[in-house]
Amino acid sequence: MKQVILGETAGFCFGVRRAVDLAEETAKSEGICATLGPIIHNRHVVERLERLGVSIIHTPEEAVPGSKVIIRSHGVGRETLEILAKQGVQVVDATCPDVKKIHRIIEAADQAGRQVVIVGEREHPEVVAAANWCKNPFVVETAQDLEVWLFDGNRQETPLSVVFQTTGDQENMERCRKILKKWCTSADFFDTICRATSKRQGEAARLASFCDAMVVIGGTNSANSQRLAEICQRHGAHVCFIEDASGLRADEFDEYDTVGIIAGASTPAWIIKEVYQTMRDEIVTNTEETLPTTPTETQEDAVLQPAPEVVKEIVAEADSAAAVPEETAVPAEPADGESAMEDESFEAMLEKSIKTLHTGEKVVGIVAAITPTEISVELGTKHSGYIPIDELTDDPEVSVEDLIQVGGEVEAYVMRVNDVEGTVMLSKKRLDTVKYWDEIDQARDKRIVVEGIITEENKGGLVAKVKGVRVFIPASQTGVPKDEPMSHLLRQKVKLRITEVNQSRRRVVGSIRMVSGEERREKAEKTWNEIEVGKRYTGKVKSLTSYGAFVDIGGVDGMVHVSELSWSRIKSPADVVKVGDEIDVYILSFDKEKGKISLGHKDPDLNPWKTFTDQYEKGSVAKVRIVKLMPFGAFAEIVPGVDGLIHISQIADRRIGRPNEFLTEGQEIDVQIIDIDYDKKNISLSIRALVEEPKEAPPADEFEESAGGEDEIVYDTDVNKPVYDDEEVSEEVGEAVAEEIALETAEKAVEEVVAEEIVEAAEEAVEEAAEEPEA
Ligand code: F3S
Repeated sequence: MKQVILGETAGFCFGVRRAVDLAEETAKSEGICATLGPIIHNRHVVERLERLGVSIIHTPEEAVPGSKVIIRSHGVGRETLEILAKQGVQVVDATCPDVKKIHRIIEAADQAGRQVVIVGEREHPEVVAAANWCKNPFVVETAQDLEVWLFDGNRQETPLSVVFQTTGDQENMERCRKILKKWCTSADFFDTICRATSKRQGEAARLASFCDAMVVIGGTNSANSQRLAEICQRHGAHVCFIEDASGLRADEFDEYDTVGIIAGASTPAWIIKEVYQTMRDEIVTNTEETLPTTPTETQEDAVLQPAPEVVKEIVAEADSAAAVPEETAVPAEPADGESAMEDESFEAMLEKSIKTLHTGEKVVGIVAAITPTEISVELGTKHSGYIPIDELTDDPEVSVEDLIQVGGEVEAYVMRVNDVEGTVMLSKKRLDTVKYWDEIDQARDKRIVVEGIITEENKGGLVAKVKGVRVFIPASQTGVPKDEPMSHLLRQKVKLRITEVNQSRRRVVGSIRMVSGEERREKAEKTWNEIEVGKRYTGKVKSLTSYGAFVDIGGVDGMVHVSELSWSRIKSPADVVKVGDEIDVYILSFDKEKGKISLGHKDPDLNPWKTFTDQYEKGSVAKVRIVKLMPFGAFAEIVPGVDGLIHISQIADRRIGRPNEFLTEGQEIDVQIIDIDYDKKNISLSIRALVEEPKEAPPADEFEESAGGEDEIVYDTDVNKPVYDDEEVSEEVGEAVAEEIALETAEKAVEEVVAEEIVEAAEEAVEEAAEEPEA
């Protein structure tokens, strides 16, 4: 043997790689997982997956409820999916998109009342599964069987939909096509042999036509590998069909000068490499020419690079001699009188299926399936389209389902065409980006507000993604006050106006501030138009001062005075609210010309004075809490927000020097309400009234009799001041008490004046602040 030629198409096909990758991914997740049947026809791969924890079940009934079941690339029938659903398992669908396409064709044909014909091996799992997607399929293996069936049942006029097993034989398909075209009046013909298979078979034929022997690597139960062996035999080559390098015999190739190697779609790269190395190192003898470049991949599942230059040259030369044309989908010219079929649909279908795709082209396809890693797209050509999940959109807020649905149309941009695998990698987000540049341009010209997601923060400002286009927002246009961090805007959706577009420099500038300013002005106008006293709003606290809180009620800030924030006594607005709080407010008053709004926050229904008057009246007994001790008495809280005064003379049934001799702050005690001034909201309380024995007024003579005795204090309950029976003492004490009261009254008056002055000063400050222009 002098030369070994490795086929370009050797190695996993797209569908098999995808299935194996999905199985490996699933094995990494938690819980039980199994494949329904061996994932591919290769025991090495199956054993490896078993070591990773992926077991094999053979029927859907064997599935453990709650487990994950991986559907292999052959696909399954509708019934199987229904059983799995009943079993409560999670299905990981690794059905090859090309196989899925056949299921959909069959389902649609069945619903349209057409007779489905499947050309393929009756017992093959792919064919068995496909047949389950319609009611009465007819399965034939060869073109000859098809012809017999047509005439036996006089079916030439039956509406037929004919599909082919994805790994079917191209020559057989061509014969079927001719028969259908010649005899049938209503046959829809679907070339469903997958592109990877077409390529592989074409290459096998070409190699076999000039090689003396062919090594076909693949599982003995693999239909596509068997088919390759048959094709090689048909083209006159000696065939050595092996599963791996251990199947090679050193003497088998002695008499052959040129040996080709081809592998089935389920054969991992490392097995092909091993066979190639073994042949080169151990079997090749008397080598006169160097062998083609050795594959460089060393990892188990590395993708074998396309065949080396030498191979390409040889294959090119062999092209003319190849019995099977490369583009097997190209229709043969119909012979005269053959055109019994509907030419139009036939030609249209063929035209579509042989369409070539180019990188950068815009395509429209139908979403065939959605998996966690990709979206399969049916393009109506022999290629299997797919959009990797990260090529769908840049918007993290949008879910896959928001953008696309199975069965719906999707527009995408062709990123890469792999003719060997028959796949096309697509990107929706890149197409959208191109489309959106125009929209961005228009947004600037027409001053349209756009939405974007903040993706970056840098020295100069922020970067937003607006429909996939980067828009720079200078810090001054972010709406964030100077020197404050902007990071809280990251990953937030924002509205912005486009201010500058330079397509050649790929530069777009925007402003959030312009939009927020406009929105605020619009809101303010609406608020002023609808404002009225008593109207309620939910506003946001914008800032706090010592005298109140400024609240945004819709583009306009109003002020809640500290006294209007709470019914309870508070020292500062910060005791009740903080910046950013949303609070309910109502309009107390407003001045549209000056732009001033006074707001109330206290709920009138919770007015403590009302609570007090609902519960108590003069003479009622209440449990109170001492809140403040003064020289002239003690203030006590009767209900939250309402205090009364226990005058020093009403604290005990005897004279005391200071209230703290008897009371402490925080102490709870029973008192009697002895007076209520409803106008001034003043309440007089008495402890003494409860501890003193009620006395009947002594008769006038008794009163006189007691005169001259011990210094006895008699209280005039109406005036709340002590009255002494001894005139001298009475006068003396009366003067002292009067002095004390006068002093306290003066102190109180001073306090009130000071308080009033503070309030006035505060109000003036508020007014000044309110006159400041809005931000
Ligand atoms: Fe799919 Fe074709 Fe492979 S049908 S599994 S890509 S052989």
